[in-house]
Amino acid sequence: MSSRREFAYTDADFDALRSRVLDDTGIRLGDSKRELVYGRVTRRLRALGLDSFSAYRALLEQDDGREREALRSAITTKLTAFNRERHHFDYLRDQLLRPWVEAGARERLRIWSAGCASGEEPYSIAMTIAACVPHWQGRDIRILATDIDAAVLEYAQAAVYTQAQVARVPPADLERHFTRLPQDGGVRYRLRPQLAALVTLRQLNLVDELPMHGPLDAIFCRNVAIYFDRETQRRMYARFARLQRPGDLLFVGHSESLYRVTDDYALIGKTIYRRR
Ligand SMILES: C[S@@+](CC[C@H](N)C(=O)[O-])C[C@H]1O[C@@H](n2cnc3c(N)ncnc32)[C@H](O)[C@@H]1O
Repeated sequence: MSSRREFAYTDADFDALRSRVLDDTGIRLGDSKRELVYGRVTRRLRALGLDSFSAYRALLEQDDGREREALRSAITTKLTAFNRERHHFDYLRDQLLRPWVEAGARERLRIWSAGCASGEEPYSIAMTIAACVPHWQGRDIRILATDIDAAVLEYAQAAVYTQAQVARVPPADLERHFTRLPQDGGVRYRLRPQLAALVTLRQLNLVDELPMHGPLDAIFCRNVAIYFDRETQRRMYARFARLQRPGDLLFVGHSESLYRVTDDYALIGKTIYRRR
């Protein structure tokens, strides 16, 4: 405990908070995350007018669920971008969408963005579909996009992005799928409702049982499980596997691997798996 801190912060405080986060989200906070937790949780202490971490822990004990949600939101990393790992979207286009179109595009198509953050991932999937599926608006296509965090889902629902956020959207897609909104002397980009309509946003904790039935042609679960402990990852991928048929796709984050986590999926490309 350092005397220079604004709030007293002990090992017991860190341990109590990380065990709460692990139970609620499956996110494992290693010892190296001690300062990160301090930095993020002090914002909650200030917002609540509390003077110590022990007072915050006491409040969490009596909480009706709202502060647990705020804690989860403070702790989770929401970094994302349009067309992040471009090769995933190219693979989706070439190996799932084009063959589906060539086969007549009559079957239903279901894609899930699990841990969608502020929407860039599901909307990148939607733009990929719009680019290669003729008459996509009249087809049985749904992108389900879920996240544990209500605040990012609201952002995704609004679907208004800054110039910096749309930097990786190709100019033709920007023109086709976004409306420019002058705002605060700058400009914002709002996704057009036709494209947004492909995406259904829902709050969902990946630690829980899944309410959907599948089958899911593709799951994007990128840069989410990396924060989970191994056991939570195992259970989550087992639930994914139950929603997919042999050959269905699973895309994971650039530094993630299913090696020794599950045998249900076979690696078929850079961070791309198929259900066995
Ligand atoms: C780093 S972002 C990844 C966003 C996007 N998938 C990408 O790769 O760009 C991680 C997201 O996972 C969400 N998340 C963390 N734990 C979760 C859980 N237990 N269930 C559902 N979502 C979770 C966070 O709220 C955050 O929005």
